[in-house]
Amino acid sequence: MISNAEEFIAQLADKHGRKRESLLPILQDVVDQYYYLDESYMVNIARELDISTADVYGTASFYSFLGINEQGKHVIRVCQTIVCDMKRKEDIIDAITELLGIRPGETTHDGKFSLFYTNCLGSCHKGPAMLINDELYGDLTPEKTKDILVSYMKR
Ligand code: FES
Repeated sequence: MISNAEEFIAQLADKHGRKRESLLPILQDVVDQYYYLDESYMVNIARELDISTADVYGTASFYSFLGINEQGKHVIRVCQTIVCDMKRKEDIIDAITELLGIRPGETTHDGKFSLFYTNCLGSCHKGPAMLINDELYGDLTPEKTKDILVSYMKR
C-alpha cells in the first residue's frame, strides 16, 4: 500500500485542493483509509501541497487523533486527564490489557486494536471515558469496557 502512496496522495490533493488548508482533510482521509500515517505519505503530502515535511509532521503530531504511528483497525483512546484519572482510568486500562494483551502505545498482533491515552474528551461527568474510533463511551467499569470491546471484535 505504501508503493501507491504517491498516487493516492495526488488523488486526495485533487479532491481537497493543494492549499495549506487542505492539509488536515488530506491527513484525515489517509488515516481513514490506512488507520495511520506513514512517513512516505507525509513526504508526498508535503510535495503535493508545496510545504515542508516538518510542517506536515507538526500538524499530524499536534492532532493526536491523526496518529503518526501504525494503528490498528479500532483505535481505543482512554482519557488520562484528572477527572478520569481520579475515577480510576487505570482500572479501564488494566481491563483492556487483560482482554487484548496490549498496553498504551501498543497494537494487537492481528492489527485489530491499538490502545492510547488521550486528553480530556469533554465527557468528564461520565468519567472514566474512552473513545473507540469516533464513538465515545462513558461511565466505564472494567466489565462494561470488556463488553464493549467484545462487540468490536466481531466487527
Ligand atoms: S477528564 Fe476525562 S473526559 Fe474529561
